[in-house]
Amino acid sequence: METKPAIPSIESDLALEFLQVVEEAAIESAKTMGQGDRMRADHVATEAMRRTMHSVRMRGTIVIGEGERDEAPMLYIGERVGRMGESDPEIDIAVDPLEGTNLCATGSPGAITVLAASEHGGLLHAPDCYMEKIIVGSPCRGVVHLDRPVEENLKAIATALDRDVEDLVIIVLDRPRHENLIADIRAAGARIRLISDGDVAAGIAAAVRGTGVHAVIGTGGAPEGVLTAAAIRCLNGYMEGRLVGYTPQQEERMSGMGIKDVKRIYRADELAPGKNIIFAATGVTEGSLLKGVRFFGEGVRTSSLVMKLNIGKVRFIDTIHLDRKPNVEVRF
Ligand code: FBP
Repeated sequence: METKPAIPSIESDLALEFLQVVEEAAIESAKTMGQGDRMRADHVATEAMRRTMHSVRMRGTIVIGEGERDEAPMLYIGERVGRMGESDPEIDIAVDPLEGTNLCATGSPGAITVLAASEHGGLLHAPDCYMEKIIVGSPCRGVVHLDRPVEENLKAIATALDRDVEDLVIIVLDRPRHENLIADIRAAGARIRLISDGDVAAGIAAAVRGTGVHAVIGTGGAPEGVLTAAAIRCLNGYMEGRLVGYTPQQEERMSGMGIKDVKRIYRADELAPGKNIIFAATGVTEGSLLKGVRFFGEGVRTSSLVMKLNIGKVRFIDTIHLDRKPNVEVRF
């Protein structure tokens, strides 16, 4: 039987295909915004991300996802995703279908859907543990160090940004474990923005001038650390991270994943060493860099960031989704 030749896609750029993956996840999770159900918000994002990912022309493997195979039904570590065409490229994928599940459930700022992709081996297979992080923008490359006292790091950031320490805004996750860190930042005189969740969006904001955020310091999720590192590389920012296991299970996961030196400090280019990193994120709720999903009558509008390291492109993409319903009026 004669088979129809495949219609070549005009949008043959993989980054644009990934854009659609994060956009779809954002639209579905945004529908649940403020419903107080973080599990459902995460579930619909994961389902949409997985569904959309299957048409991407790649032979993908999830290296950071929703968990181990036995605990996550979708987008688990090791799951094969993509169109799986014979000539499609082998790609490692790190996802967080909804980064900031509580933020979405409560309608608070900073929830995003996020994905990073690379050639095989280009993203550290971070275990599900914590990571101590310091994230800054390009002018502060190499002037901060995780092991340095907070006050010294803040002075170095202030000098690099040509301002006083008092002018800096540092984002810190609001957690009891950060009590001393917060006290040290306050003692040094810098200002603090405490966030309840969402250190990936915060880390991206720290690497973009004009967001009013100058650094993210503190301990958050390790998988989120790898996703942030992928973005930081594309933005010419600077980041250091060190894995932290608070429980015996987390320590076991670290050694199970071959992490021998638990004290090792990784730079962004060691957390996400790939040459062909692609990073895509879409805002779910309002954020300092990305707007949340807006539903207007029958239309939908999303705000995304798509970056490609090898060609040095940082794209802020504002999409109006006309495909949802016919006759949607397009407004500027
Ligand atoms: P979720 O997307 O799973 O809700 O995680 C959000 C988050 O706040 C991350 O941004 C952060 O890295 C991590 O959780 C911090 O973990 P914990 O809440 O255990 O301190």
